[in-house]
Amino acid sequence: MSDVMIAARGLTKRYGPHRALDNASFEVKKGEIVGFLGPNGAGKSTTMKILTCYIAPSEGTAAIKGADIWDDPIGARAAIGYLPESTPLYGEMLVAEYLEFMGEMRGLQKDGLRKGIRRVVEECNLASFYAQEIRTLSKGQKQRVGLAQALIHEPPILILDEPMSGLDPNQAVEIRDLIRQLGKERTVILSTHNLAEVQVTCQRVLIISQGKLVADDTPQALTSRGRNRYTVVVAKGDKAREGAVREAFGKIKGVDSVRILESDSGETKLEVLPSSKDDLRADLFKAAVDGGFTLLELRQHAQNLEQIFRDLTLTASDDDEDDDDEEEEEAKPAAKAPAKAAAKDDEDEDEDEGSSKSTDKEKE
Ligand SMILES: Nc1ncnc2c1ncn2[C@@H]1O[C@H](COP(=O)(O)OP(=O)(O)O)[C@@H](O)[C@H]1O
Ligand SMILES: [Mg+2]
Repeated sequence: MSDVMIAARGLTKRYGPHRALDNASFEVKKGEIVGFLGPNGAGKSTTMKILTCYIAPSEGTAAIKGADIWDDPIGARAAIGYLPESTPLYGEMLVAEYLEFMGEMRGLQKDGLRKGIRRVVEECNLASFYAQEIRTLSKGQKQRVGLAQALIHEPPILILDEPMSGLDPNQAVEIRDLIRQLGKERTVILSTHNLAEVQVTCQRVLIISQGKLVADDTPQALTSRGRNRYTVVVAKGDKAREGAVREAFGKIKGVDSVRILESDSGETKLEVLPSSKDDLRADLFKAAVDGGFTLLELRQHAQNLEQIFRDLTLTASDDDEDDDDEEEEEAKPAAKAPAKAAAKDDEDEDEDEGSSKSTDKEKE
């Protein structure tokens, strides 16, 4: 048997004239944990609902462990454990009752049901609140119950729609670790708009933007295919006035844009974006020496997944209604629109720094 667990072919979903999903094709192999990444409204939930046979595509098809969603929806659903975006829990039920109910819905009975419940209680670590009402649980505990119901019929595939959203950082780490654990024996697709999650949890990333798949790669390959950036700090002086420094670095062959990040009493901090992957450090150093500037700092940064994500998902979307995320504001793509980026003032710099820092931290 082939090890392709999910094969989506040309999936399209139209709502009136709007294409929520546009000709998406991808495969997920046995044992992979794949991150389905995209801004709000990109089509992540739509894809997941199609794969789990909750809605039908307008065009295209998918095979779930060999079962076609049109020809054998029951076979397809049997192979999948699904955790929808808003976990369908019944607050008044005890965890025990809920699992029994969900197990029965999945066709389990008697011994099979008892065994299934015991297994998921252990796997998702529910023992300490097994006899509690669901409404009394923390968000993280509820999410574990949601995962447990998805696992009760021992599906080889898990489809998890934003499983970590709305959790506090400790709960998110707990759920992330649980998902990694579950993913050792299973094939997992999880959706998220959080890049840090993808970087630590997933072996492969599918990036979706406005219904279209725009990337399918490992997090490492995605980050390495981007260009580097440089931050340069020079001491202020007679020669080293902001404009002069910017001009000197801007003239270097291979430099796409230069912008001033910070300029306070003693020093000026700049960001230099190259137009290719060539290493520009020696040229930057030489330009500083030739210009008579005192170089205080010169750093090269790999482009992080966040920037690549922005590049891929923010192009040509200016007049689209798609989402109101502040991400959009911060991130008129620097690499794609150097003139704009260079002209942009310092306002968004703090946020840029902040978010790349937090991503770096996550990586460690
Ligand atoms: N039932 C529906 N009717 C009309 N439009 C919908 C419906 N469901 C989703 N959409 C639209 O489809 C697009 C993709 O939605 P969705 O898959 O939920 O995005 P995501 O999960 O990535 O945030 C959005 O523009 C959304 O407004
Ligand atoms: Mg969604």
